[in-house]
Amino acid sequence: MKQLGGELKARLQAAMADGGPEAAVRVCADEAQAITAGLRAEGMRAGRASLRLRNPNNTAPAWVQQWLEVQGERKADGVVGIDTIDNGTARVLQPIAVDGICLTCHGAPQAIPPSVRTLLRERYAQDRATGYSPGDLRGAIWAEVALPKP
Ligand code: HEC
Repeated sequence: MKQLGGELKARLQAAMADGGPEAAVRVCADEAQAITAGLRAEGMRAGRASLRLRNPNNTAPAWVQQWLEVQGERKADGVVGIDTIDNGTARVLQPIAVDGICLTCHGAPQAIPPSVRTLLRERYAQDRATGYSPGDLRGAIWAEVALPKP
């Protein structure tokens, strides 16, 4: 969760400052996928989910999808995540909010720099993850793991 949340955001900020948004697209894309694949190898499932996906491969399990649908499109303020153990499976979910740095790639299409828009169009033919404003609920980071039997 930490890797997909704060650490990824810090890496994103650094990449934006270093190489500009074109370079940072790599961070939000390849690194997030690498982190989730690594967690899967450790017997955990985790990912980033949204009602409006950029990458259609970011599908979520039913309990995450259900949470997203209950929240709907709204501001992130006051949204509560999930932290449960049910039937031997631990599940955690944290809401993700949009802030200023996200707008370069997830804001109104006309506010996205043309070079970034082109890059996104090339990589994500089915991109639905634009048009967000600061404070919007973007989606969630989730993780689940089967606990060892007592
Ligand atoms: C430099 C461009 C860029 C910036 C800035 C950026 N993103 Fe992304 N974002 C992407 C790309 C590219 C993907 C697709 C990732 C993939 O292929 O899994 C993505 C995917 C996501 C996803 C996964 C769900 C989906 O739509 O596929 C979430 C959640 C997300 N971004 C949240 C954020 C948040 C929150 C911020 C601000 C802190 C942010 N992004 C900033 C480019 C960006």
